[in-house]
Amino acid sequence: EPTRYQEKYRPQYHFTPPSGWMNDPNGMVYYAGEYHLFYQHNPDSTVWGPMHWGHAVSEDLVNWEHLPIAIYPDSLGTIFSGSAVLDQKNTSGLGTENNPPLVAIYTYHNAEMEKAGSDKFQTQGIAYSIDSGRNWQKYEGNPVLKNPGIKDFRDPKVSWHSESQKWIMSLAVKDKISFYSSPDLLNWTFESDFGQALGAHGGVWECPDLFPLDFAGEEKWILLVSINPGGPNGGSATQYFIGDFDGKEFTTEQEETLWVDYGTDNYAGVTWSNVNDKQLFLGWMSNWQYANIVPTDNWRSAMTIARELSLSEIDGKLRLLNSPVENYKNLLQKKSHNWELIGQDSFLLQQASEWTEFSFKNNRSDNQLIRFDFFNDEGEELLFNLDFAENIVSIDRSLIDNHSFSEKFKSVQKAPMNVSSDKLKIEIYKDASSVEIFINEGELVMSALYFSEKDLNRIRVTSNHSMTADIQAADFHSIW
Ligand code: FRU
Repeated sequence: EPTRYQEKYRPQYHFTPPSGWMNDPNGMVYYAGEYHLFYQHNPDSTVWGPMHWGHAVSEDLVNWEHLPIAIYPDSLGTIFSGSAVLDQKNTSGLGTENNPPLVAIYTYHNAEMEKAGSDKFQTQGIAYSIDSGRNWQKYEGNPVLKNPGIKDFRDPKVSWHSESQKWIMSLAVKDKISFYSSPDLLNWTFESDFGQALGAHGGVWECPDLFPLDFAGEEKWILLVSINPGGPNGGSATQYFIGDFDGKEFTTEQEETLWVDYGTDNYAGVTWSNVNDKQLFLGWMSNWQYANIVPTDNWRSAMTIARELSLSEIDGKLRLLNSPVENYKNLLQKKSHNWELIGQDSFLLQQASEWTEFSFKNNRSDNQLIRFDFFNDEGEELLFNLDFAENIVSIDRSLIDNHSFSEKFKSVQKAPMNVSSDKLKIEIYKDASSVEIFINEGELVMSALYFSEKDLNRIRVTSNHSMTADIQAADFHSIW
């Protein structure tokens, strides 16, 4: 059974730091049976400050073991976001062929240089471990990539490109992504820029990720780009591009702006490196609009649950899906269906739990509205609406008591109901202060925080039409 925390709002089955501040996931790499998760961490405060890399490992992506802080600030700066790889062939020479190093590539942020008015305060550095990620040494020759004079120059995500036998670094540079290549992780050559004329540009581009996915036997390349502000529901969010990568340039025919998650609280997510045949993803479950002021006491922020990414066609168009990794389901214990029909248009579940699943017919033609109301006896409610007339899905957390910390927290979050079939399968993962909603195995995803005074321990499902004909299944499951 996973750890049980007692603190108010503390998630039970989502990753949270032991104490202090957390933002982006960093350095995600699978090695020797362990998924490593590093994270942007200020151990001395519950607000953002001098960044370190916190560290945890997991064998199943659900249960996490906290490890000591892995990378500390040094004279070159504090440690911003980045990635980690297994240097299997010891191209860097930082390990040996028998004991290949894990290499972390991160951004140095030099606040003194910034204060002094220089534009060159972000550079890329590396650290390495030759003991399964337990101890990390900084490379003597840091920085490995100097700043050409651009203020926003950060978040290196590195992967091995087997076709060209080179390491490729995707780097967020102001409002575009720059690609660099290297034979050895130590010497980097600029290859190309992507994106100034494509995608959303309401804010600075951050935390890119480039990886291949198979679709019907064909290799496609996906580029994730986080953007802040400028997300579909305000503040931070992650967009994606589907295209090709030839070792030098990323190209795409995509014209639309597409989002990994339409909810307000999934940012800076990237994939695990060194996992065979799969792309496993996790994001920071917050938003820069209010991350520093959410009402938690001794820690701030959680990660989303881990998700597997895949490609699928919706209405003839290729789309990136994200769906919870199987391991969560193994934890869930099926509880009895104690929902009741109250009238022909309303269901009541007497006990909301960690995972709720419903299936409905998709009555597009029918002006149908279906509302999921997570509520408690204090009058607090979180609403999740399926509006078939407008073809919109929305989350409304304005009826939750504790939202006064930010005006931005009240607004209704919306997403176009872009799904493939006439059936809707809805999975809702709920924890102490979050919901993550997956429609049709991740065709449409919304993740959102909420801070209710009391647990939202019941669910009412209502519709403006008779639901008895449409409802196909209603199940709810518990981890405890
Ligand atoms: C994204 C981000 C990154 C940066 C880090 C600093 O949330 O702004 O671009 O490296 O956070 O903590």
